Amino acid sequence: MTGFARTTTTYQQGAHTLAGEYYTSPAISHDEIEQLFRRTWMCVGREEELKEAGSYVLHERFGDSIMVVRGRDGVVRAFHNICRHRGTKICEAVSGRFSSTIQCPYHAWTWSTEGQLVGAPHMHEVEGFEKRDHPLLTVPVALWEGFVFVSHDPSPPSFDEVFRPVIDRFGRFGVGALVRVARREYEVKANWKLIMQNYNECLHCPTIHPELNQLLPYTSGANDLHDGAFLGGYMDITAANESVTVTGRRCGLYLGDLPDEDKRRAYYYSFWPNMMLSLHPDYANWYAVWPLSPDRSLVTCEWMMHPASESSAGYDPQGPVELWHTVNAQDWHICEMSQAGVSSRAYKPGPYSPRESIPAAWDRQYLLRMHGNNEKHGRHEKHE
Ligand code: FES
Ligand SMILES: [Fe+2]
Repeated sequence: MTGFARTTTTYQQGAHTLAGEYYTSPAISHDEIEQLFRRTWMCVGREEELKEAGSYVLHERFGDSIMVVRGRDGVVRAFHNICRHRGTKICEAVSGRFSSTIQCPYHAWTWSTEGQLVGAPHMHEVEGFEKRDHPLLTVPVALWEGFVFVSHDPSPPSFDEVFRPVIDRFGRFGVGALVRVARREYEVKANWKLIMQNYNECLHCPTIHPELNQLLPYTSGANDLHDGAFLGGYMDITAANESVTVTGRRCGLYLGDLPDEDKRRAYYYSFWPNMMLSLHPDYANWYAVWPLSPDRSLVTCEWMMHPASESSAGYDPQGPVELWHTVNAQDWHICEMSQAGVSSRAYKPGPYSPRESIPAAWDRQYLLRMHGNNEKHGRHEKHE
C-alpha cells in the first residue's frame, strides 16, 4: 500500500512512535478489541454482496458471529447469529441466501428475514410465551457509499455523526455504484497498527515501492484531512501516466463525473479504526485490517470499478490488481520487518519526521481512544 506525500501543516514537534508493548502485549491487544473495535462502526463488506432478498453474509470477529441479511422487504439488517431458544449458533456457511425464513438447525425455531419469530415448536404450550418477545437480536447496521458497517456496541453514536468528516466528501466518485472486480486476503505477521501506519505515509515509497514512486512521486500532493478519525489526502499522478496501473494506462471508465484535477490524482484515506480507501481516476480499492493476535493481522483488499467499464475500450482490471498485489507484498514484508524490530526489548520509540505527520496523527487518535488522556500518552511516547 502506499501513503501520502505529506504537507507539514499538522506535524507536531516531538512526535515519537509507540512503545513496544503496543505491538507485543496480549493485554493491550485485548483492550483494543474491547475499547476500540467493539465500540465503533466497522466496515464488513459491500451491499453488492446482498443483492437479492434473503442473501446474507456472516461477520465473525471478536467472539461474535453477526448475520447481515437483506430482508424480503429489501432492507439490510444485522442480527446476532444466535438462537433465542437455547443459544445455538444458527447459520454456519459464511455467505448464502435464506429461502424465505431463517431456521435454527437444533429444534427448528424459525424467523422471518426481518428477524421476527414465526415458528417455535411446542412453545404455544408454555404459559405466557409470545413470539413477539423473541425476535433475533439486532445489531446496528449502517450503509454508506455501498459499504456495509456494523457496530458490536448495541448503542453506538450515530453513524452520520461519526462519519461527518467524509460523509459527502466522495460523491463525485460514485463509490456507491462501483462493482467489485477482485478480492484478496492476506495474512501478515505484523500488528494491525503497523499496517495502518504504513498506509498513512509515503516516505517509504522511494525505497520500498520504486515502481509506484514513478507513478506517484512521494513529494507530490497534499493532505486534506490532518487530524482525528479520518486522515489522508491526495498524490499527483505523473504526467504521461493516466492512472496508477502497471502500464500507467487507464483500465476503465472514470469512476464518476470527475473534474479535470481528479483525473490526475490518487486519494488515500484511513478511516478509524481499520479501514482504508484508495481512489484513483478509474478504480478504487478498499482494505480492512483485522487483528488476529498482537503480531498477526488479516488484511482484506478489494478492487472496484465503474459498472459500465467492462464494456469500455481498454478495460483491464488486472492492471491495478497486479500493481497493488506487488505493492501490498512489499508493504507486508516491511511491516513484518517492523514487527520483528519493535518486538525486541532493545527497541525504543523513534522520532517521526514531518513527512510522517499522518501516522503521527493516527497514533494520537489511537492513544486518545485507548487512554482518553494525555498523561498516559506522554508516558508511553517518552519510554526511554
Ligand atoms: S436451540 Fe435453536 S431451536 Fe433450540
Ligand atoms: Fe507502502
